[in-house]
Amino acid sequence: MVLEGLDSPTGAENLLSWGENKLSVHPKYLISDEERQSLKEVSMLAYVPVIDLQELDGSSRPQAIEKLRKACKEHGYFEVINHGVSEAIMEDMMKVADEFFQLPVEDKLHLFSTDYRKRTLLSTSFNATKEATMHWRDYLRHPCNPLEEHINSWPNNPPSYRDVAGKYATQLKELTLKLLEAISESLGLEKDYIAKALGKQNQTMQINYYPPCPNPDLTLALGAHTDPNCLTIVQHDEVSGLQIMKDGSWFDVPALHGAFFVNIADQLQVISNGEYKSLVHRAVTNSRKKRISIPTFYGPSYDAEIKPAASLVAANVHGPLYVSFTFEQFLSHFYSQKLITTTLQHFEVPQPQSN
Ligand code: OGA
Ligand code: NI
Repeated sequence: MVLEGLDSPTGAENLLSWGENKLSVHPKYLISDEERQSLKEVSMLAYVPVIDLQELDGSSRPQAIEKLRKACKEHGYFEVINHGVSEAIMEDMMKVADEFFQLPVEDKLHLFSTDYRKRTLLSTSFNATKEATMHWRDYLRHPCNPLEEHINSWPNNPPSYRDVAGKYATQLKELTLKLLEAISESLGLEKDYIAKALGKQNQTMQINYYPPCPNPDLTLALGAHTDPNCLTIVQHDEVSGLQIMKDGSWFDVPALHGAFFVNIADQLQVISNGEYKSLVHRAVTNSRKKRISIPTFYGPSYDAEIKPAASLVAANVHGPLYVSFTFEQFLSHFYSQKLITTTLQHFEVPQPQSN
């Protein structure tokens, strides 16, 4: 069995979960000196804003909306508790995700692809055909909305996968729509503004699988990036590894049990006309324990036309900060390059130079 293949960037033998744990790191995973240095300069995040979804119901809503506005504006992320997603479903999802990655490779090879246009796929790294440095990650990704249209493309092994992931996706959609209503309100927009701006809406679920890595100082699990969707809602396991960038420095996000980690993504930065910023984040490896994270990426359907909300444009002395584009145009630009943090710049309205 070829374990250190990597001759072809598109080969399934690049999967980290192909066989037994890798004992050495192939040179293709070695990060730059600058990135290595940045791994040494990380502090623990002292504060994670907590949004209690129950506080958004009833008479405490105005205060809760204000708290949410501050979290989005000043941090770009928050933790959500009392979110209504059942603990049993969260646990079942994590379990079936793990079982999927423990399956013998023969049982999942049919899902392997490096073509991002394939909506249900098992892959590795980020964009294997474009990047020079590989990321220490395998992932399974599939669309979830509408459920009936997509569920048959999902893995049917483990046998409970579709049932568990279907329930998880349904509850996550409900949670996300509540958050999008509250976020719309926090921007002074109609409650359904963002949900409508996303057209038929795209809900994509991903399972990130990070096996232990023999050289955590020399590799990244996932390099620095912002997410291309609108809002990301992540379930983490008990192993930490997520880092966020704030004011130019990296911070470890503590592992959260029972809560979801939510971050602002690119389309929300555009719709809010820069009022809320897409969060720069990355994931690091460790040599001891595998780690699983399950992000739900909620965003526009491919044909939705995304642009800054008119009332937020009117309120900004610079007018619109972004041109309008379809989500399909955005994604094709996003995937035309290696993983970087600057896709949004491509869609900025040029600002007059001040002297
Ligand atoms: C992602 C991501 C971070 C993590 O999949 O986009 O940022 O903690 N994952 O796995
Ligand atoms: Ni991300």
